[in-house]
Amino acid sequence: MNTLILNSDKKGLEKSVELLSQGQLVAIPTETVYGLAADATNKHAVTKIFEAKGRPQDNPLIVHIADINDWPILVDSIPKKAQILANKFWPGPLTIILKKSNFIPNIVTANLDRIAVRMPDSNLVRDIIRKLKKPLAAPSANTSGKPSPTCMAHVLEDLDTKISAVIDGGECSVGLESTVIDINQEKIRFLRPGIITEKEISEIIGEKIEIDSSIYTKTDNNTMPIYSPGMKYKHYAPKTKIILIECNSKNFVKFVNSKSDCAALCFDEEIEFIDIPVIPYGKENSPNEQAKKIFNYLRKLDNFNLKLAYVHAPKRIGKSLAVFNRLIRASGFKVIRLPE
Ligand code: TXA
Ligand code: MG
Repeated sequence: MNTLILNSDKKGLEKSVELLSQGQLVAIPTETVYGLAADATNKHAVTKIFEAKGRPQDNPLIVHIADINDWPILVDSIPKKAQILANKFWPGPLTIILKKSNFIPNIVTANLDRIAVRMPDSNLVRDIIRKLKKPLAAPSANTSGKPSPTCMAHVLEDLDTKISAVIDGGECSVGLESTVIDINQEKIRFLRPGIITEKEISEIIGEKIEIDSSIYTKTDNNTMPIYSPGMKYKHYAPKTKIILIECNSKNFVKFVNSKSDCAALCFDEEIEFIDIPVIPYGKENSPNEQAKKIFNYLRKLDNFNLKLAYVHAPKRIGKSLAVFNRLIRASGFKVIRLPE
């Protein structure tokens, strides 16, 4: 099948709605990353998502809605905390997991009794959902295990001929996937860090949030992380193996300059001092900028055709934690901490 390239205009919108209503897959530009969308109420269409991505069937999908009124039918009930957070952050990069209703087929949620919902901050995507009159199931539009796509070229790199269409919406403004939280326990559980931080959420709700250990630590492949099945899979990995280095700038520069036959991903301030092939991925204190660039640069690393790259790790706090989380997963949890 030829993958159609659609513009992000009225014609592109109408064609997307037509294809989605026929149970086909369309890659859509959200503010976070490109999503691979299907009608969430059509289990045959949703099956195609798992096939196209090579995604394990036990990894559930996020359901995307256009308006806050589309939410109640998908869930058992909406606790007050969830409503407060949705009012504050939607449309935007926050995904909220609640007990599910029977409206969405079980394949979408991998047979879990919980459903992840998000309202993306893209007028085009929300207009598609409104016209289709169905919510969209949409994981990131990459091959499973590869870095998430932040522009149309990445989607085509992975999924050309495997999906019906892609809408060209340019570069994603955030560049990292949404923050994911679960609100089924007494305490809110932070499952995937994003550009909306744990601190912002806990300040609005006025209580401490439980941070899921899978954010920093490896989960055994044979054990299911209790709260988020996706966390057991290797993610975001380029062909080049990567190792994270936690240290200050001076030591990072010294460390990589002592190596040969490898590349580096560094902060902008360090590039002029580094002698090996290197890509700068943003200023040290600009997590927003790093977030926007990191998936693109993980893909670009492969152009050096080297086996290994060292990455100067961002801090494990605030918005930087989101970048750190993607990098540690891309490395397969290989981290070296150098003494200061
Ligand atoms: O920004 C985003 O969230 C993007 C855009 C396209 O919206 N989507 C995205 O989807 O990143 P995906 O499938 O690549 O990541 C969704 C994560 C996975 O780790 C999955 O396991 C988890 O959310 N998840 C989805 N539904 C869940 C559920 N019912 N319970 C627990 N975890 C869930
Ligand atoms: Mg993904």
